[in-house]
Amino acid sequence: MFFFFFILSSTCFTSTEAYDPLDPNGNITIKWDIKSWDPDGYLAVVTINNFQQYRHISSPGWSLGWTWAKKEVIWNMVGGQATEQGDCSKFKGNTPHCCKKDPTIVDLLPGTPYNQQISNCCKGGVLSSWAQDPINAVAAFQLSVGRAGTTNKTVKLPKNFTLKAPGPGYTCGPAKIVKPTQFMTGDKRRVTQALMTWNVTCTYSQFLAQKTPTCCVSLSSFYNDTIVPCPTCSCGCQGTKSQSDNCVEPDSPHLASVVSNLGKNSLTSLVQCTRHMCPIKVHWHIKLNYKEYWRVKVTVTNFNYRMNYSDWNLVIQHPNFENLTELFSFNYKSITPYGTINDTAMLWGIKFYNDFLMQAGPIGNVQSELLFRKDKSTFTFEKGWAFPTRIYFNGDNCVMPPPDAYPWLPNTGSRREVSLLAMMMVSLVALVFYAFA
Ligand SMILES: *[C@@H]1O[C@H](CO)[C@@H](O)[C@H](O)[C@H]1NC(C)=O
Ligand SMILES: *[C@@H]1O[C@H](CO)[C@@H](O)[C@H](O)[C@H]1NC(C)=O
Ligand SMILES: *[C@@H]1O[C@H](CO)[C@@H](O)[C@H](O)[C@H]1NC(C)=O
Ligand SMILES: *[C@@H]1O[C@H](CO)[C@@H](O)[C@H](O)[C@H]1NC(C)=O
Ligand SMILES: *[C@@H]1O[C@H](CO)[C@@H](O)[C@H](O)[C@H]1NC(C)=O
Ligand SMILES: *[C@@H]1O[C@H](CO)[C@@H](O)[C@H](O)[C@H]1NC(C)=O
Ligand SMILES: *[C@@H]1O[C@H](CO)[C@@H](O)[C@H](O)[C@H]1NC(C)=O
Ligand SMILES: *[C@@H]1O[C@H](CO)[C@@H](O)[C@H](O)[C@H]1NC(C)=O
Repeated sequence: MFFFFFILSSTCFTSTEAYDPLDPNGNITIKWDIKSWDPDGYLAVVTINNFQQYRHISSPGWSLGWTWAKKEVIWNMVGGQATEQGDCSKFKGNTPHCCKKDPTIVDLLPGTPYNQQISNCCKGGVLSSWAQDPINAVAAFQLSVGRAGTTNKTVKLPKNFTLKAPGPGYTCGPAKIVKPTQFMTGDKRRVTQALMTWNVTCTYSQFLAQKTPTCCVSLSSFYNDTIVPCPTCSCGCQGTKSQSDNCVEPDSPHLASVVSNLGKNSLTSLVQCTRHMCPIKVHWHIKLNYKEYWRVKVTVTNFNYRMNYSDWNLVIQHPNFENLTELFSFNYKSITPYGTINDTAMLWGIKFYNDFLMQAGPIGNVQSELLFRKDKSTFTFEKGWAFPTRIYFNGDNCVMPPPDAYPWLPNTGSRREVSLLAMMMVSLVALVFYAFA
C-alpha cells in the first residue's frame, strides 16, 4: 500500500502539470469597480487579491498590464503608477498620466505621501500568500480614465490582462462583467455599490513558469548514518554550460568578486556548485524516537549567492501532520488541499527572526524542529513512512530522492525506543552532516 503511494507520488514529480496539484483553485483575481462616471470616462478602483494559499509575490512586486479597447487614457492615478507615460503630445492643457495603448501599472513604495495613497496600496508590489497573511494579500489602486464610455453600455472592457511580474507562469483570462461590488460605510449603517464591476482571474502554472525545478530534498535519520542526498542534477547539471558560468565553488578565492559582479549575468541566479545545483535544499532529519512522540528537524539551505528570500514558505505533506504536537521557531498552519485529508502543513518564518532566508553563505539557512504524536496503528520507521511525501518551497515542487534510496532501518531493534547509543549516534550524524552538507 505504501509502495503504491510512493509510486503514485513519484510519478507526480516527473509529470509536467498544467496546474498546481496542491492548489488547483488558487488564483489572483483583479477586480475593477467603477465608482463614478466623469464627463469623458470614469473613476475606477482596481483591487488585486492573491487567493493563492501559499504562493506570495515578493519584492520587486507585481506589475500589471492590459490593452485598452478604444483610445482611452489615464488622467491620473492614486496608489499606483504607470511605468511609462507614452506619447501625450496630442493633449493641450492638462496632460494625462499615461497615454499608452498598453499601460503597465506598478504599486507605489511604502512611505508614499498620504494624499497619493488609497487603502491597501503602497506595499512596493509585495503580496502575501492567502494562508500566510490574508490582510496583506490585497493590493489596490485608483485611476480616472478618459476618452472612455460613460455608461455601462458604452464602456469597453480592457483586454489582454497580463501579470508581467512576477510572471512568467501567470496567465490571465478575459475580463467578465460581474455583480456590482457592495461597499459598507464605516459605521456599517449604509451599503453603497459600484456602478459597474468586472473581474479578471489569473492562474499560475509551474510548468509555464520554469521547466527546471528550484528546490530539492535530502533525508537522514538517527537510525542509519547514511545521508540520502538530493538527486544528482535535480535542478541542473554542473558543466552543461562552462562551469564558471552557472555555479561557483564556496572556497573560490574569486567568490566575492563573482557574486558582486552585476554585469551581464546580474539577473541570473548564481548557485554554489553542488551535485544537485538547486538554489534551495530542504533537509528532513528524523532526530529522536520517544515512547509517545518522535521528532524531526527541518533545515532549509539557500545555495543562491544572488537571492535573499523574504517571507519564504514551505508546504510539507506527511500523514502525521494530523497529529503535530509542537513546532519550534516557525509559524504553522494546517492546510487541507484535498478537503478532508489533514496531512499537509504550511510552515513559514517568524517576523524579524527567521522570515528572511539569507543568500548562500554561513547564515544562509533556517531550521525548525517538529514533534509528532505517535499513533500505534499507523506509526512506523519502515518503508519510508517517516519521510515526507512532498515538499514545496514558495509553492514550487521540490525534487525528492527516489523511495528506494531512503535510509533503511537496521535489521534488529527497529521498534526499540531511543537508547543511549542511538542518542550518541544522533549527535554524531548531526556533526557529520553539518561538517559536510
Ligand atoms: C479564484 O479563487 C477564488 C478564491 O479561492 C475562487 O472563489 C474562484 O472561484 C477562483 N476563480 C477561478 C476562475 O478559478
Ligand atoms: C470578483 O472578484 C472578487 C475579488 O476580487 C471576488 O470576491 C468576487 O467573488 C469575484 N466575482 C466573481 C463573480 O467571480
Ligand atoms: C446597466 O445599467 C442598467 C440600469 O442603469 C442596468 O439595468 C443594467 O443591468 C446594467 N448593465 C450592466 C451590464 O451592468
Ligand atoms: C498581450 O500582451 C502581451 C504582453 O504585454 C503582448 O506581448 C501581446 O502581444 C498582447 N497581445 C495582444 C493581442 O494585444
Ligand atoms: C541580502 O541581504 C543582505 C542583508 O540585508 C544584504 O547585505 C545583501 O546584499 C542581500 N543580497 C541580495 C542578493 O540582495
Ligand atoms: C492521529 O491521532 C488519532 C487519534 O489518536 C488517530 O486516530 C490517527 O490515526 C492519528 N493519525 C496518524 C497519521 O498518526
Ligand atoms: C487538522 O489538524 C489540525 C491540527 O491538529 C486541527 O486543528 C484541525 O482541526 C484538523 N483539521 C481537519 C480537517 O481535520
Ligand atoms: C542505511 O540505509 C541505506 C540506504 O539508504 C542502506 O544501503 C544501508 O544498508 C542502511 N544501513 C544500515 C546499517 O542498515
